[in-house]
Amino acid sequence: MELIKDEELKRIAQELRMGKLVLFPTETVYGIGTNGLDENAVKRIYEVKERDLKNPINLLVRDISMVEEIATNISSLEYKLMQAFFPGPLTLILKKKPIVPSIVTAGSDTVGVRMPNNEICNKLLTYSGVPIAAPSANISGSPSGTSLSEILQDFSEKVDYIIDGGKTSLGIESTIVKVVNNIPYVLRPGSITAEQIRKVAGNVMVELDDLPSNTLKHYQLDCPSMLIYNKDPKKISEHIISLTKKYKNPIILTYHESIKNYSDLPLIDLGSTRNLPGVSRFLFENLRKAMSLKPDFIFIEGIPKNGLGLAIMNRFLQVCNRNYIEI
Ligand code: TXA
Ligand code: MG
Repeated sequence: MELIKDEELKRIAQELRMGKLVLFPTETVYGIGTNGLDENAVKRIYEVKERDLKNPINLLVRDISMVEEIATNISSLEYKLMQAFFPGPLTLILKKKPIVPSIVTAGSDTVGVRMPNNEICNKLLTYSGVPIAAPSANISGSPSGTSLSEILQDFSEKVDYIIDGGKTSLGIESTIVKVVNNIPYVLRPGSITAEQIRKVAGNVMVELDDLPSNTLKHYQLDCPSMLIYNKDPKKISEHIISLTKKYKNPIILTYHESIKNYSDLPLIDLGSTRNLPGVSRFLFENLRKAMSLKPDFIFIEGIPKNGLGLAIMNRFLQVCNRNYIEI
């Protein structure tokens, strides 16, 4: 892959500023973005993504002064979190300023703000000079895209520019945090863990049911699936093996360490449980791989919900529509 030239990026950034739609990489997942202060342009994002208008869109920013252009009443704890985690995979829900069109925030008085850490995306922000409204680049209901090939087909006819940045480095969407009464609440877990946030803030709560998108469909697979957990991975495998007997074409999403538990059953190796960043980087790609095999059932092995494990389990829970058992 040849890296895009600065001249080309400058031109695309100017077009984005004028309201064109651009598909581009961030360090988490690909985004589909436009000028976040342009109501009509943002409306097009909802259309192209088939996104529910009740689901607000985050704004990507270049620096703290851009945060201050769109948000107000920022508390010292919120500044502290930005200092600790910006640029990076953290979205902070802040009180919005009137300059932010209400279509971006789905009518709410808050706005999600993130300073990304990806060269192409950061240059788009610098050259355009505007906050970029950018949800994950996937049709609502399908897995987020972590490389261009996964999403090109869905969007090639619908966006104005497409920028290839290779495989995204983190692979899952940002951690979303909202500070309420001086306590940070994690609304969506991501690569920045609750434990890391606690270290900075002295406190953290995890409240995963409070996201506007939770009532809407998310990552629906084409076939039924189930997430199974026990603290002994061997027990998980035994249980899955017994359940697979009912299916003609099941597929099992497992980890390096458990592959030996399954003789010749069809598997996808999610990576090592000792390398969770690796597991999250390839999580959506592996889900798409599983779907491409057209299984009649997908069994997913669970892992402990601490550290990055919480974000990984959260994505799997959504994938299997909360069809989750602890055995
Ligand atoms: O890593 C990411 O955050 C990626 C990349 C492209 O930056 N973006 C992303 O956007 O995941 P999206 O739209 O797929 O997910 C944003 C989530 C949605 O669940 C939405 O409901 C929530 O953030 N959100 C946005 N604005 C909000 C607000 N004002 N209050 C509460 N939740 C909000
Ligand atoms: Mg999304």
